[in-house]
Amino acid sequence: MANNKTVLLKIKRQNDPESTPYWEEFELPWKPGMNVISCFMDIAANPVNRQGKATTAITYDSNCLEEVCGSCAMRINGKARMACSALVDQLKQPITIEPFSKFPVVRDLAVDRQVLFENLKKVKAWVPIDGSYDLGSGPKLSPETQEQAYPYSRCISCTCCMEACPQFNQSTGFVGAATIGQVRLFNMHPTGAMLKRERLAALMGDGGIHECGYAQNCVEVCPKDIPLTRAISDVGRQVMLQAIGDLFSK
Ligand code: SF4
Ligand code: SF4
Ligand code: FES
Repeated sequence: MANNKTVLLKIKRQNDPESTPYWEEFELPWKPGMNVISCFMDIAANPVNRQGKATTAITYDSNCLEEVCGSCAMRINGKARMACSALVDQLKQPITIEPFSKFPVVRDLAVDRQVLFENLKKVKAWVPIDGSYDLGSGPKLSPETQEQAYPYSRCISCTCCMEACPQFNQSTGFVGAATIGQVRLFNMHPTGAMLKRERLAALMGDGGIHECGYAQNCVEVCPKDIPLTRAISDVGRQVMLQAIGDLFSK
């Protein structure tokens, strides 16, 4: 018997950063194991909308197709999540797909997430080593520290936590949970801790950690289950201790 099952998609599109967004619907033949990215690939192979009108392929970012590269984040049925792991059979139809709302749209579902990388630079989210000569082996991390650090190292810079955060907006300038998670990670590393003071100082001013309202949306959407609220409490404590220490050393 022929399989006539179809998949309905409602996609918010935008031709360029300045143009007005519009919605376009697609009805695709259902296949087993489909995910949102495979739907986009089917549309690219036959770019015809639900009204039977020829259209263009959807623009989006993706790379690994296994929830590792962090590039395919978008709003799917209203939730910030990764398109490559969004299985069609588990989604209510029509599946509504929109670009992230807190980041400038480049085209269709592709957005510019440079702000995260600027924030990571602000807090020096790296281990400071000079790679121009052999430094020998670094300090050892105890298995306990490794265990604590590992969850934070799983961040894929997808920005889902920032999209879902009510405090991440232009008026607060809040750095967002991902950046705070990386501060927690690099402050835990014996060599990374050399920049701890500067990292914490970067989280003290406008847009710093005090902007967090502790709504916990971030931890709910993080595809890598990173303990973001724990990071926010731990780093908040570190920031406060440093601020008090600075006050008394004046
Ligand atoms: S706890 Fe709430 S306010 Fe704080 S970073 Fe997470 S979502 Fe944003
Ligand atoms: S903390 Fe989680 S949600 Fe935020 S960028 Fe990293 S992986 Fe994505
Ligand atoms: S394509 Fe890499 S996370 Fe989805």
